[in-house]
Amino acid sequence: MPTRAKHPGAAQFVPSASDLGHLAQAATGCTGCDLYENATQVVFGRGPQTARLVFVGEQPGDVEDTEGAPFVGPAGGVLDRALRDSGIERGDTYVTNAVKHFRWKAVRGSKRRIHEKPSAGQSTACRPWLAAELAAVRPHLVVALGATAAGSLFGASFRLTQHRGEALSWPPETGDFAGLAGSELGIEHGLATIHPSAVLRAEPDERQAAYDGLVADLQVARELLG
Ligand code: URA
Ligand code: SF4
Repeated sequence: MPTRAKHPGAAQFVPSASDLGHLAQAATGCTGCDLYENATQVVFGRGPQTARLVFVGEQPGDVEDTEGAPFVGPAGGVLDRALRDSGIERGDTYVTNAVKHFRWKAVRGSKRRIHEKPSAGQSTACRPWLAAELAAVRPHLVVALGATAAGSLFGASFRLTQHRGEALSWPPETGDFAGLAGSELGIEHGLATIHPSAVLRAEPDERQAAYDGLVADLQVARELLG
């Protein structure tokens, strides 16, 4: 008997109807990669379909997995503060992740669930959901939060450290979104910045600089919105 592919991909689960409500509902049944098996629930993007700015994070964390919404845990707290400090209203944006189920590992003798970075294969498997969200929202600007999101949007060869905070053209030069017709998805610009959790992980004496860098990049995003 042939073994079932580990990451068959989400494409077969994505409905042709393109409103966010239908997409979010359909995503609850996704088994496009192995991550649904150990997660509590799918965490789809949140925000108005009319948003002009889409943020893409990595994957839901422990709190997001429990609550079913993106960026509502500690990293979300940093994001909220950085948005306020850069003059962006979170309620006007659509916030999602490159991967929609929480990847974690257990540690012996503890109930804690430790975040594990999604693999490239899992990111690729989940990309049809991200593509469908972008097609539904058709934002002016899409912003990657961290290297996983930047890789999913701008291709695996994209170097966040070199290009963070830069106004990037869309469609990107590399990756699965490269070569789209100009008007497809309606997107005009891309931008990549660090993941908010990098601020939390920074050494205490480097934390403020990391946060200020995040805010500076988000100010570029605000300017790109016009
Ligand atoms: N980190 C992410 O990348 N996304 C979330 O939703 C929460 C934490
Ligand atoms: Fe489907 Fe994405 Fe969840 Fe994998 S992570 S099961 S592709 S929604």
